[in-house]
Amino acid sequence: LDRPRVLSGIQPTAGSFHLGNYLGAVRQWVALQESHDAFYMVVDLHAITVPQDPTALRANTRLAAAQLLAAGLDPERCTLFVQSHVPEHAQLAWVMNCLTGFGEASRMTQFKDKSAKQGADRTSVGLFTYPILQIADILLYQANQVPVGEDQRQHIELTRDLAERFNGRYGDTFTVPAPYILKETGKVYDLQDPAVKMSKSASSVKGIINLLDEPKTSAKKIKSAVTDTDTVIRYDAEAKPGVSNLLTIYSTLTGESIADLEKKYEGKMYGALKTDLAEIMVEFVTPFRDRTQEYLDDPETLDSILAKGAEKARAVAAETLASAYDRIGF
Ligand code: ADP
Ligand code: NA
Repeated sequence: LDRPRVLSGIQPTAGSFHLGNYLGAVRQWVALQESHDAFYMVVDLHAITVPQDPTALRANTRLAAAQLLAAGLDPERCTLFVQSHVPEHAQLAWVMNCLTGFGEASRMTQFKDKSAKQGADRTSVGLFTYPILQIADILLYQANQVPVGEDQRQHIELTRDLAERFNGRYGDTFTVPAPYILKETGKVYDLQDPAVKMSKSASSVKGIINLLDEPKTSAKKIKSAVTDTDTVIRYDAEAKPGVSNLLTIYSTLTGESIADLEKKYEGKMYGALKTDLAEIMVEFVTPFRDRTQEYLDDPETLDSILAKGAEKARAVAAETLASAYDRIGF
């Protein structure tokens, strides 16, 4: 029986994945490789929509791949590759650019946000059309489902529109994908400001857990997380966002339900919860760091995994592109 196909990507951002990236995305990718025919890529083409240093880009791409493998992606169970290794992404993106209305692209809120951050005169055309490259990324693999956060839903809607538009104009070519919105339960908040999500760009040093930091640094951050003046360990995202965030992290890392944790810590102080969670965190990040380092220390193995992944990805992508080109009249 054919398993549904999923495709997802992650940016080769500088340095370490943070706990939000892991619990909100990567961890769920690892689970999906068991039930799905999964394609995962490091999206280095997307990275150059904003200025990049070549040496840093190369290093960050390998670092992202090493962390994905350390987190549990298994090249025997999924297809893991680097986007620029598969030239069909850029080729299909051009086709999709030509099918997308200017007004349609202008309505993408992610572009508006990112462009506002860059400043209008420093915004590249590539940033404007990055949602269309994303469409090509998805359609090339005939993905049935696209695991994304809620903020990407609009891009998946546009992907569906474009797939239907192409199919209507040229004949059935592309699978129309459905969003697979990642579980909100994986959402992690800033440890110092639990009203906002943990994020590379917005979190303070103490508010974010970087998975490649010294384990004792991460333990310290858990212990100094902001809570409240109450003493009850109970999940209540509105009234007790700090404690609720710690319970979410605890529950997701250990698999114990929030209800069980509330029982376990009945009558106990916040300090007890934090001490235990700090220990759980150390147990989680220590092997993660070690495994990441092993891949970085063995560039031949890493390169060979990525080359094999690109070969597998390309076999699918080339077939889709060939049929799209043929229908267009190339
Ligand atoms: P950041 O917001 O730190 O720049 P990215 O936008 O690169 O992180 O996110 C990469 C992936 O990690 C996305 O799938 C996103 O949904 C997920 N993610 C990022 N931050 C969090 C968070 N705080 N909680 C859950 N998931 C998150
Ligand atoms: Na983000």
